[in-house]
Amino acid sequence: MPAYPVVLSYIQAETLLTAHRNEKTSVEVSPDLNLSIVTVTLSDSGVTFPGGERVNWRQMEQIRKADVNCFLVEGDEIQPIRVFSEQTNRVCSLMPTKQTPTMLIAGFTMHRIVDIDPMQDTRKKIAAITPIMGLVLDTATGLGYTAIAAAKTAEQVVTIELDPGAQEMARLNPWSRGLFENPKIQQLIGDAYELVTTFGDESFDRIIHDPPVFSLAGELYSGVFYRELYRILKRGGRLFHYIGNLESKSSGTVVRGALKRLQEAGFTRVVRRSEAFGVVAYK
Ligand SMILES: C[S@@+](CC[C@H](N)C(=O)[O-])C[C@H]1O[C@@H](n2cnc3c(N)ncnc32)[C@H](O)[C@@H]1O
Repeated sequence: MPAYPVVLSYIQAETLLTAHRNEKTSVEVSPDLNLSIVTVTLSDSGVTFPGGERVNWRQMEQIRKADVNCFLVEGDEIQPIRVFSEQTNRVCSLMPTKQTPTMLIAGFTMHRIVDIDPMQDTRKKIAAITPIMGLVLDTATGLGYTAIAAAKTAEQVVTIELDPGAQEMARLNPWSRGLFENPKIQQLIGDAYELVTTFGDESFDRIIHDPPVFSLAGELYSGVFYRELYRILKRGGRLFHYIGNLESKSSGTVVRGALKRLQEAGFTRVVRRSEAFGVVAYK
């Protein structure tokens, strides 16, 4: 097994600071945002992880106060997991939640986090187009949660990410490891709007289209793009398109527009899936 770096959020910082206040000399904590547990030693100078990484109490306070990014621990240094993307002029960060992290791009979270964990959000998206099989296109990689989940039953998943900054966040996210380690997943860096034109007619059994909000990526909600998705989807195939809360007034116009354009693109049936905050379109 490769040695993975220690990644911490305010959740683990809180545990460690409380243990120190209670004069504990060792405590169990997750070194990878709740995926596994290790025992660390505590002293007056700070925390030592089993791999020798050290975080002092001043650094730990800094981690505890950060609610929009996690931290990478390297030796005795901590680095916020955050980049300014030259490609898109947007700040991307790996944002902690109580369980599965999300990504923040230009202030927008890339998964649902209100009363739901990003992994439950992912399961709902995938469940909307089960069974997932054959060749799958995931138009917007993000942290790779949909690609990783689809790869459990698909033969192959092709996933596209526009922003190298977002890919960097995935690379540092313990929950995104499958994206880099699962041979069934092929990652492409580029603009989905352009790359879809390079795929042959009727290539994919399933398409997962999980774009950023309309205001960040309007072209991914356009009729031109939907017609390409229709063209590259196999007959009998299904498209899941995340749009946002179908019941909310604010997304009403976007939802109505998307439904209309999907039908115009040729999809025979377009069904609202409120629980997954999206629609399923059938060819
Ligand atoms: C909502 S997130 C996707 C979340 C992903 N499905 C997951 O499970 O983690 C949207 C992603 O699309 C990327 N993106 C934005 N515009 C894009 C484009 N034109 N082509 C491909 N990816 C794009 C963003 O950088 C972001 O990482």
